[in-house]
Amino acid sequence: MKNILITGGAGFIGSHVALELLESGYNVVVYDNLVNSSKESLKRVEELTDKSIKFYEGDCLDEDYLLEVLKNEEIEAVIHCAALKAVGESVKKPLMYYHNNITGTLSLLSAMDKANVKNIIFSSSATVYGKPKSVPITEDFPKGECTNPYGWTKSMMEQIMTDLYTSDNSWKVVLLRYFNPIGAHKSGRIGEDPKGIPNNLLPYVTQVAIGKLPYLHVYGNDYDTKDGTGVRDYIHVVDLAKGHVKAIDNLSKLNGVEVINLATGKGYSVLDIINTFEKVNGIKINYKIEARRDGDIAQSYADATKAKELIGWVAQNGLEKMLEDSWRWQKNNPNGYEQ
Ligand code: UFG
Repeated sequence: MKNILITGGAGFIGSHVALELLESGYNVVVYDNLVNSSKESLKRVEELTDKSIKFYEGDCLDEDYLLEVLKNEEIEAVIHCAALKAVGESVKKPLMYYHNNITGTLSLLSAMDKANVKNIIFSSSATVYGKPKSVPITEDFPKGECTNPYGWTKSMMEQIMTDLYTSDNSWKVVLLRYFNPIGAHKSGRIGEDPKGIPNNLLPYVTQVAIGKLPYLHVYGNDYDTKDGTGVRDYIHVVDLAKGHVKAIDNLSKLNGVEVINLATGKGYSVLDIINTFEKVNGIKINYKIEARRDGDIAQSYADATKAKELIGWVAQNGLEKMLEDSWRWQKNNPNGYEQ
């Protein structure tokens, strides 16, 4: 059985990846500094799978500790999810973001190199495409101008791993470009637990639904889209997690640096999200149309054919299921993992 290390494995995406890996028979080791995540998520993954996770509380900036974990646990591949990810905060604190995300990644890669663990699956983002020239976005689209430091860190981390492969072809690098992950595990036991006021659409919608926030701010209805609001490719977090398992399953077939979009190929507007959420969950979402948010683009959705052809992965869940699962998580855990 293979031992897989997930950095940031206690977070929203990492915890779902941990669960899917365990269900597929892998051993999971989580390395997380818990600054934006909770150990409770891992406890619940253990309950749901009836399997155990080896947990290390550590920071990616701590290269020595990473090296020790990589060696002791005989790790075969690393899924690197750990990063700071709040777009607005990254604009205010660029040095913190560059230091944490970039230096943390350099330290991880250096530890991996020393431990001779040269397989990495990286949590990248559609943000690296910047403003795409058209949609749907395929992996051969050029990378673009990011609109914030967070996005640049993702773009730069991709470049660092690509250069590392160029210098040493024994590395395998899979850059998974996530579109917009939403939803939660069907049990309603694990999900997204943002600290403070959410930045992203779905946690904002569910917090309006539960009465924690008075209404949703819809950022702009004058985009060149079907109803004027922004269009995104929302993907169920469980499908996204399964994409990581498929990447690991197929590692022996992959060579060099592979870029893979993880997306459904369908775009939905903000109003689609509100209307579908209201329909499937029977709850009214109050909203106000406001000015566009700085840095937002009109539309972003992907062509997900490469993932199907290369690793045999296709997203299974539609929008209704995503919104039902998001709501179940929020309703059952009004304060997230806080008891
Ligand atoms: N939106 C609102 N109101 C809100 C929040 C969002 O109207 O309160 C709108 C946005 O304008 C956009 C859509 O909902 O049209 C989605 O916004 P999100 O903030 O949920 O997601 P983004 O597409 O802006 O960003 C997400 C991730 C980033 C990632 C990016 C890649 O948050 O980490 O996708 O495109 F980089």
